[in-house]
Amino acid sequence: MVEEITEEILITEEQLQAKVKELGAEITAEYSKDDDIIMVCILRGAFIFMADLARHVNLPVVLDFMDVTSYEGGVETTGDVRIIKDLEESIEGKDVLLVEDIIDTVLTLQHVIKMLETRDPASIKICTLLDKPDRRTEKKVEVDWNGFEIPNKFVVGYGLDYDEKYRNIPHIFVPKPELYQSE
Ligand code: IMP
Ligand code: MG
Repeated sequence: MVEEITEEILITEEQLQAKVKELGAEITAEYSKDDDIIMVCILRGAFIFMADLARHVNLPVVLDFMDVTSYEGGVETTGDVRIIKDLEESIEGKDVLLVEDIIDTVLTLQHVIKMLETRDPASIKICTLLDKPDRRTEKKVEVDWNGFEIPNKFVVGYGLDYDEKYRNIPHIFVPKPELYQSE
């Protein structure tokens, strides 16, 4: 099924798992066990990444989830972000580790950070699986951990969707253009 719509496998399951393990070890080394760490998953794209990553973080972390939507302005996100599902936990005084699937124009993340900063966390760090640096224009966000830098191509799998599908595929691939044309 997936083979038929695959143009190219960009990151294999083995590469993803190796990277996640590496990131987990780095994150474990960065914090101390006395820190009040809360890993925040930005739904839905980051849910698989966070599930895997959290299992390689050897610290007593709290896991929480947030769903946001950005108002569409033409072909790109305007960066005007609205909370669909807020965190269950208070982040005041806590060390927040934001877990993202991909940083594209960075607008979504910038707005999420701005919203979370108003809640007075002790710190906010960012871990993204993918980064499309070509898409970054004048906006800048300091990313603490970045799994893979990828070219400016639309990718799906390992949490990332096309039309809400293919999040369950264990690797990251570039779909054939026919995928869009057939709809
Ligand atoms: P940004 O505000 O442009 O950085 O938007 C980032 C969000 O857009 C991500 O969290 C993804 O949900 C989505 N996105 C960006 N690029 C891709 C892609 O190549 N495939 C699937 N979703 C993407
Ligand atoms: Mg999406």
